Amino acid sequence: MNIPKLHIGHLTAEFPIIQGGMGVRVSLASLAAAVAEEGGIGTISSIGLGDFEAARHEYERISREALQEEIRKARTMTQGILAVNFMGALSNVEDLVQTAVREGIQMIVFGAGLPMRLPELVQDRSVNLVPIVSSARAAELILRGWAKRYQRTADALILEGPLAGGHLGFSLEELRHPEDHSLETLLPQVLEAVKPYEDRYGKKIPVIAAGGIFDGGDIARMLSLGASGVQMATRFVCTWECDASREFKQSYLNAREEDIVIIKSPVGLPGRAIRNKFLKDLEKVDKLEINCPYHCLTVCKVAEAKFCIAQALLNAYRGDVDHGLIFCGQNAHRIDKIVPVKELIAELLGELQSALNDAP
Ligand SMILES: Cc1cc2nc3c(=O)[nH]c(=O)nc-3n(C[C@H](O)[C@H](O)[C@H](O)COP(=O)(O)O)c2cc1C
Repeated sequence: MNIPKLHIGHLTAEFPIIQGGMGVRVSLASLAAAVAEEGGIGTISSIGLGDFEAARHEYERISREALQEEIRKARTMTQGILAVNFMGALSNVEDLVQTAVREGIQMIVFGAGLPMRLPELVQDRSVNLVPIVSSARAAELILRGWAKRYQRTADALILEGPLAGGHLGFSLEELRHPEDHSLETLLPQVLEAVKPYEDRYGKKIPVIAAGGIFDGGDIARMLSLGASGVQMATRFVCTWECDASREFKQSYLNAREEDIVIIKSPVGLPGRAIRNKFLKDLEKVDKLEINCPYHCLTVCKVAEAKFCIAQALLNAYRGDVDHGLIFCGQNAHRIDKIVPVKELIAELLGELQSALNDAP
């Protein structure tokens, strides 16, 4: 069997890999364009962009212009497929989605919250809408709501399992037993939930598996279970083109399995990160001082939040990892080198092809 292409709406990626969006600034133009240029789908994260100090007074405008700049920059580097990732909890999410659409982005990926009103924001039906879900129930809620209110369905769904990096769509209790919510368990349920909407709209709704996918063998396994492709993020951090600092990438190389932990985030969701000096120091205090000038998250209660997640992620991106939160997937400890995107993709596709050849 040949490596299948990934079809989402009118877009066709040469191979079934999406590079997952990573905020704050871990996946910007450089990484997304490199992946798109190879023939995959590269995702720019819309989260935490712009000059934080200057944004004190004009947060919305500064974030908007910074996203616009990243999209334009990526476009000078590739004609490949670019997506932008959004988070439901962002206070300016509507403005950012509209900015991406105005800039000609053809795929909107939406996580951390159910994007019930997304079709209303994106009237242009040539823009592909791709929600991230962590259960068949969430998939069903979105698809039913969109069908009822907008007579529209999703162009693809990303199913993110419990081994992913960043914020997770599972409770702390569920994360104590990740095997009960594995992609192998969830994928058939989501495919089942999607089926009536595929029939109703007469089109395929590809389901993309994400979370803990490490090598080509993992990709082959997801394809054999019915996924149309995979979304991978952690592996792309340790590439030359990844936009994060050298120190951020080095933290992945240094991490041992036992360093990768679940934290409670001010976003109101659990997240997976490396237990570094920042997290160890945080364990010893009730709360860090927060100087929040612009309320980037609708859900963040500044008076109660233990730390400012935007600042902690920004510190990590810049290389001040001792004061920074380093999000990562469960398999980050398995990475042992930093390589060009081209080399990583060639390695993954080589492994995938061998696994497909060996399949019964
Ligand atoms: C450093 C980092 C930051 C992330 N930030 C975001 C984000 O801002 N929005 C989002 O939807 N997903 C985010 N994710 C999740 C990824 O897009 C992806 O779905 C997931 O990590 C896939 O699992 P993997 O990292 O094991 O490949 C992040 C992941 C990492 C590792």
